Amino acid sequence: MSASGAGGARAGVPAAGAAGAAAAAGGTAGDAGGDALGGYIDLHCHYLPGIDDGVRTHEDGVALCEGLRALGFSRVVATPHIRTAMFDNDPAGLRASLEAFTRKAGEREWMPALGLGAEHFFDDVFWERFARGDVVPYPSGRALLVELPPAIFPQRTAACFFEMRARGVRPVLAHPERYRPLARSSEALAPLLDAGAFAQLDLMSLVGRYGRTARRAAERMLDEDLYQLAASDAHRPSDLPDVAQALDALVDRVGPARAVALLRDGPRRLAPRDPPADG
Ligand SMILES: [Fe+2]
Repeated sequence: MSASGAGGARAGVPAAGAAGAAAAAGGTAGDAGGDALGGYIDLHCHYLPGIDDGVRTHEDGVALCEGLRALGFSRVVATPHIRTAMFDNDPAGLRASLEAFTRKAGEREWMPALGLGAEHFFDDVFWERFARGDVVPYPSGRALLVELPPAIFPQRTAACFFEMRARGVRPVLAHPERYRPLARSSEALAPLLDAGAFAQLDLMSLVGRYGRTARRAAERMLDEDLYQLAASDAHRPSDLPDVAQALDALVDRVGPARAVALLRDGPRRLAPRDPPADG
């Protein structure tokens, strides 16, 4: 299946490719309030300009959002980095950034729905921030994206994840396939999933964006059915061709129905427009 082969093409935006094809196969009518292209929800991308290593300009932020929508994402939740001494963002600043971006981008016809979370680096500072509520969960308020150090998992990770769940916030683990402890075996993921974490695939891992080891780990974890959702982790418009190819690779690997589950149903559980009534 080719990234440019299936419908959805519009002048000036990439074709929907596998995203559109998978959406059709999954029979989606789109996210609530979304559109007919795919109804997917991207819970990991960096389109707010000038606040982390994502896009630098408003125009690139708009281009990234529009490109993601063309690939089938009807909602895109910005997840700027929060990492001490590297990306010193805070909830108020991020909310202001989203508001400014939304105000300016609101006139555009081809924008997906926007939302805000953050990619929290998991260290002692994060844990202190979490304890006092100084974090940016996903729009439901009941899940939050965390990134672990790449080489070694902190000793108390599973215990902290368990405590987060106990406090009503599900940890969502960014790109597990890119962590060294999971490079050759998924064993180290089990305690984290047991503690209540959801595993979020970085789509571009499937096209070798982070090297062969991460690609193989992603394929293995897909085969082992360990992911609950998939996201772009796109940082700039030039990432869009890789995201498109990765959507093709995902459909080829798991089939269209499972791809839709990872791109739409999993994210929707974490970031419904309104909190679910079932507690
Ligand atoms: Fe990211």
